[in-house]
Amino acid sequence: MSPSRISRRIRRIKPSPSSAAAERFAALRREGKDIINLAIGEPDFDTPPFIRKAGCDAIERGETRYTPVAGTLALREAIAAKLERENGLTYSPRDIIVTCGAKHALFNALSVTVEEGHEVIVPAPFWVSYPDMVLACDGTPVTVVCREEDDFRLTPEALEAAITPATRWLVFNSPTNPTGTTYTTAQLRALADVLLRHPQVMVLTDDIYEHIRFETAAPKHLLAIEPSLRDRTLVVNGVSKTYAMTGWRIGYAAGPSDIIAALDMLQSQSTSGVCSVSQAAAVTALNTEASFLPDWVETYKRRRDRAVHMLNDIPGIRARAPGGAFYLYPHCGGLIGKRTREGKVLETDNDVVIHLLEAGGVMVLAGTAYGVSPYFRMSTATTVEQIEEGCRRIAHAVSQLS
Ligand SMILES: Cc1ncc(COP(=O)(O)O)c(C=O)c1O
Repeated sequence: MSPSRISRRIRRIKPSPSSAAAERFAALRREGKDIINLAIGEPDFDTPPFIRKAGCDAIERGETRYTPVAGTLALREAIAAKLERENGLTYSPRDIIVTCGAKHALFNALSVTVEEGHEVIVPAPFWVSYPDMVLACDGTPVTVVCREEDDFRLTPEALEAAITPATRWLVFNSPTNPTGTTYTTAQLRALADVLLRHPQVMVLTDDIYEHIRFETAAPKHLLAIEPSLRDRTLVVNGVSKTYAMTGWRIGYAAGPSDIIAALDMLQSQSTSGVCSVSQAAAVTALNTEASFLPDWVETYKRRRDRAVHMLNDIPGIRARAPGGAFYLYPHCGGLIGKRTREGKVLETDNDVVIHLLEAGGVMVLAGTAYGVSPYFRMSTATTVEQIEEGCRRIAHAVSQLS
């Protein structure tokens, strides 16, 4: 056999299970199958009309040319103002780069800083892309399993134990995909204390779900709690989840000047600046009060409560109500070892998920992909009716097991 033409870096990674699920759902739909999709990773709301209009206006004004590699000054100013207003973080537009979604900021940040032998701490359950991004950048992902008893929070002890002289980054995402876990200011303080003891560790904060939280008091940003971490923290965020703008592809990173300069250089030789029209729309999004957001968050909360209630009525499944994001991460250990009508024994959460799809017509994602089993991720970014029907189908599929 001829040697692969594909680089070792790329041969190390696997496709994103959420993208694969979206494609699988579309294929099943095309075959005429009736499937409830609870694998969705984006808000089901439309981008608010005033933001859409800002995009259309930008086209009409002729803002259709290349922008600076780091993003338009107007957008970097809007991001700087947002970071100051909402997070108590002071950055100049020079310390900010606009990227093609938060995902691009995270990937590029790892690309410009990670070398072979570097370890990147990824608390698990994790967003599926983190470990593969690290692998694609020649680094070693070090997953730290966070326990359900701790509400899937990274504890200071677990962080301390995972740090080695080779640790380059801690990737910190809260509210977390897939568990919805949030942290209090005191819990963040305790993590900051550990980080202070290890100056070689940089912190990549992924704040993409920051506004989708259900508790009354939002914690301070980790960096606002411990400003001395500034020189080794990269703040990553974007407009995808807060403003329902996933398809516009606007993310950003704010941080130390050497890292921002390296990101700028990488972008200048790869993608150039992000879509001009999307940048204009994001300026309007960030500079306008998000008056729609309280209603959206309340809606996510109602859906969460309904789903948790219905799931906890199903034998073999245990669901907790998370503090944020639009996902649940129910435990399905009670279904492991059960037998389907066709005689197949469910051995893993992947088997459970396949059974739910085949016997129930409901799509959720297996915990294996998120680093902690036996669980599955269920999205609540869909209507209450779909969630109720989805839970009824899960109950039906479970009732078929013996
Ligand atoms: C934790 C987390 N970070 C980043 C992203 C990607 O955001 P964006 O669409 O802005 O690239 C996602 C999307 O699902 C996510 O769940």
